[in-house]
Amino acid sequence: MSSQNIYVLGIESSCDDTAASVIHNGKNLSNVVASQKIHEAYGGVVPELASRAHQQNIVPVVQQALDKANITKEQLSAVAFTRGPGLMGSLLVGTSFAKSLAYGLNIPLIEVNHMQAHILAHFIEEENFDKPSFPFLAMTISGGHTQIVRVDNYFEMEVIGETIDDAVGEAYDKSGKTLGLGYPAGPEIDNRAQLGNPKAFQFTKPKVDGLNFSFSGLKTAVLYFVQRETKKNPDFVKENLNDICASLQYTIIGILIDKLKLATKQTGIKQIAIGGGVSANSGIRAALMAGEKKFGWKTFVPKFEYTTDNAAMIAIVGYLKFLEGDFADQDVTASARLKI
Ligand code: KG4
Ligand code: ZN
Repeated sequence: MSSQNIYVLGIESSCDDTAASVIHNGKNLSNVVASQKIHEAYGGVVPELASRAHQQNIVPVVQQALDKANITKEQLSAVAFTRGPGLMGSLLVGTSFAKSLAYGLNIPLIEVNHMQAHILAHFIEEENFDKPSFPFLAMTISGGHTQIVRVDNYFEMEVIGETIDDAVGEAYDKSGKTLGLGYPAGPEIDNRAQLGNPKAFQFTKPKVDGLNFSFSGLKTAVLYFVQRETKKNPDFVKENLNDICASLQYTIIGILIDKLKLATKQTGIKQIAIGGGVSANSGIRAALMAGEKKFGWKTFVPKFEYTTDNAAMIAIVGYLKFLEGDFADQDVTASARLKI
């Protein structure tokens, strides 16, 4: 199959972002995301509200992606969609829409694993961004995921470590809630961390074997710490907020970097590609840069718009699968717990 003129529409609806993108021969022509603000008031994603918002957003978001790409739907070569993992009600909206559209246009339908897509986002053609070569390690860190994956080829990958409870973004967001910060709290904790003393307070790192992670203990440790200190001084959080954020961030980055060190040691692979919303964090970026100097790592951080949930990452996987003729049948169903 010649790769000359392939337009793939990607559709992402696994959580609280309704997104659509057109990728043309590996290049991003449009990457539209409608983020659902409604969840902020609840301090977390409310599944029922998420699926309703997807219903409202999906048609306008897809239309906008086509308009921005300056193509009509008749020019599409295939429709790719997130099959899972994610919230079932949310996945169903994107899945049903993608199936109907592909059926109506009589073009191939391509199913995409959201976690693979976070990793393969590194292969979207972008000037000034190097692509990792195989094999590499991918660390996907967000509000929904925390994984280390060994990637031997586009579709040959193995999860070698993952969280056994909360995701790292949840450690940020739930601790942020304890500290009275808005949702999601990650960006504010990151900003404040840069103004505080990372050694001011100590939080114990969880002891988890191998390459797995655990973050729920840290969230509880922060809660107990705040309760204890607030009893002594009701203004404790207010007076020490930047130091608490810096100490928390220091602990979280330490946990991530410890596991990366172990993963590079176990596999002998020194290329590390990160993705997911938490990869925007200044601390993790600085620690990866330090790892390049200290341990000879080569690290890859994609363009920000490809790190958080987006549809360009779905469309690039669609493109790669299109080249292989890897299409889905019309009886494919969404899968909330789809594995890599
Ligand atoms: O990938 P994403 O947009 O959505 C999913 O959760 O899948 O990631 C959102 C997560 C939230 O937990 C948010 O607090 C966190 O990424 N986040 C950050 C930063 N920016 C976003 N966490 C730490 N530092 C940041 N700068
Ligand atoms: Zn995600």
